Amino acid sequence: MWRKCLSSLVASQRQVQPMLRLMHHHHPNQAPATRPPKILITGGLGQLGIECAKLLRSQYGSESVILSDIIKPSQAVLENGPYIFADILDFKGLQKIVVNHRIDWLIHFSALLSAVGEQNVPLAVRVNIEGVHNVIELAKQYKLRIFVPSTIGAFGPDSPRNPTPNVTIQRPRTIYGVSKVHAELIGEYYYHKFGLDFRCLRFPGVISSDPPGGGTTDYAVAVFHEALRHGKYTCYLKPDTRLPMMYIEDCLRALLEFMRAPNEQLKRRVYNVTAMSFTPEELVDKLSKHVPHLHVTYKPDSRQLIADSWPQVFDDSDARRDWHWKHKYDLTNLVDFMVKDVQENYINVENGERQTIKI
Ligand SMILES: NC(=O)c1ccc[n+]([C@@H]2O[C@H](COP(=O)([O-])OP(=O)(O)OC[C@H]3O[C@@H](n4cnc5c(N)ncnc54)[C@H](O)[C@@H]3O)[C@@H](O)[C@H]2O)c1
Repeated sequence: MWRKCLSSLVASQRQVQPMLRLMHHHHPNQAPATRPPKILITGGLGQLGIECAKLLRSQYGSESVILSDIIKPSQAVLENGPYIFADILDFKGLQKIVVNHRIDWLIHFSALLSAVGEQNVPLAVRVNIEGVHNVIELAKQYKLRIFVPSTIGAFGPDSPRNPTPNVTIQRPRTIYGVSKVHAELIGEYYYHKFGLDFRCLRFPGVISSDPPGGGTTDYAVAVFHEALRHGKYTCYLKPDTRLPMMYIEDCLRALLEFMRAPNEQLKRRVYNVTAMSFTPEELVDKLSKHVPHLHVTYKPDSRQLIADSWPQVFDDSDARRDWHWKHKYDLTNLVDFMVKDVQENYINVENGERQTIKI
């Protein structure tokens, strides 16, 4: 399904179209002067991967972007472009993909997120730490540009929380955070030691209408689905828990702009990026304008402890200065877009399906 929220972004990102035109219009016997990068996305069937593939395909052509994961794809995924199986714990399998598809860029999304990681620490260590070893080494061997997302979860109780600067004490207390600090450090190490083109953005909670993967900021997605369907929601964080957040369109545009930024512009390999910070109470207040009788109760669980050790306000001034990062969505237009998106692409679709079944 082509999601409405991304179509405006795609329309505003036409700058690289000349590159595609150049590719299509060259003489059939001549090698094109330049070809778009061939991109592999790992862990691509999660919250970020499918939308990221849509954006990159709109820029570089659908065949240039290969989605991969270890789970079975839906029909819609298969219809939108190449999809293959890739287990990030299988180094040889990854080598084969990079060679056979002549991969240039690797976007490494595979991970166990914060709440899920705490439920299965040994698996989180394998996927989040061994997996990163594999892709970093792979990127070095084949001279790939590699993007690994980090997170606000890479900070901990000793970090300054409001605001949290780009370089400060980290010492996270979740296995997710520990593995992300490890990814940041090993990436920087490979950059300094081997010249690897490692690029990393620390994302805040990412909000989209697609189901999230088991993080601490998931409430900010779930509340829209529950409020619009049932008019009520039970939140697992306290009403005044402030966390940095970003709409998915801003998140993926940040990724694309950062990947395209010339190396000379980058003063560091790891940057904070964000768009806004809000509490459950503030989000519910805005959402009540669309769902007047919305009833939200608060029942904090173990995720509260995680949230209490994370940044409240994220300082991304380095990204804004070095490669001109600028967010587009604040809390008000985030809520407007999410309400429209969940209503049109989920609730109306489900109601339509129910109607069809009745017929
Ligand atoms: N979503 C957010 O709010 C957020 C915020 C900050 C950072 N990030 C980072 O962005 C990345 C993508 O996040 P997401 O929300 O899409 O995660 P997600 O949990 O929705 O998706 C992760 C994917 O990794 C896959 N995976 C697990 N084990 C694998 C293996 N052995 N081999 C290959 N794939 C495997 C899973 O099948 C899943 O589809 C993650 O690295 C995450 O840490 C996400």
